[in-house]
Amino acid sequence: MKILGISGTHRAEGNTDLLVKKALEVCGEEGAETEFISLSNKNIEFCTHCDICKESPHTCSIADDVAEILEKMNNSNAIIIGSPTYFASVSSRLKALFDRTLPLRRNKYQLSGKLGGAIAIGGSRNGGQEFTTNQIRNWMFLHEMVVVADKTTAHFGGIAVGRNPGDALEDETGLQTVENLALKICDVLKG
Ligand SMILES: Cc1cc2nc3c(=O)[nH]c(=O)nc-3n(C[C@H](O)[C@H](O)[C@H](O)COP(=O)(O)O)c2cc1C
Repeated sequence: MKILGISGTHRAEGNTDLLVKKALEVCGEEGAETEFISLSNKNIEFCTHCDICKESPHTCSIADDVAEILEKMNNSNAIIIGSPTYFASVSSRLKALFDRTLPLRRNKYQLSGKLGGAIAIGGSRNGGQEFTTNQIRNWMFLHEMVVVADKTTAHFGGIAVGRNPGDALEDETGLQTVENLALKICDVLKG
């Protein structure tokens, strides 16, 4: 089982990176092959609605780091996506990536049936993390993915509180939801 973790952070080694890596660590302990991508060092241009991918589904008119990420999505059985909460939403970096996944949807729903799980971190206890995970899940639904949440704690996936880089690792309750999300994904993948 191959599990890809994507962090939508703008800050390398920020809280989102740490949480997605934590989830992958648990998946690794469960026997999964894992790969981590931080969007912090990726060049991701905006989708311009040129519709080239409509005419020719495998193609995109923009040459940047997105093609490599889409290929890794295609090659995984499950995708865990984390985002910092920015004004109760996903980061603009992650949203830009979401929009650029249109060729996968237009190419016979290439992500269909893959498992998905969401993680969000915010500086405030009630800062909109649930809205943020909802946006991630909605993206998954539109790709016909199968969405799971966190085992035992059973809410919306990984939800954590922290403002400065590293704070997330102090949030024991949040870390538990991240670990439980990873466990649930592995449970479902193992059948
Ligand atoms: C522009 C901006 C908007 C933010 N909006 C929110 C918000 O709506 N709710 C919240 O709880 N935290 C908000 N935060 C705080 C971040 O979510 C928080 O610091 C998080 O840990 C950042 O993750 P990172 O370390 O991966 O960058 C915001 C931060 C920035 C810079």
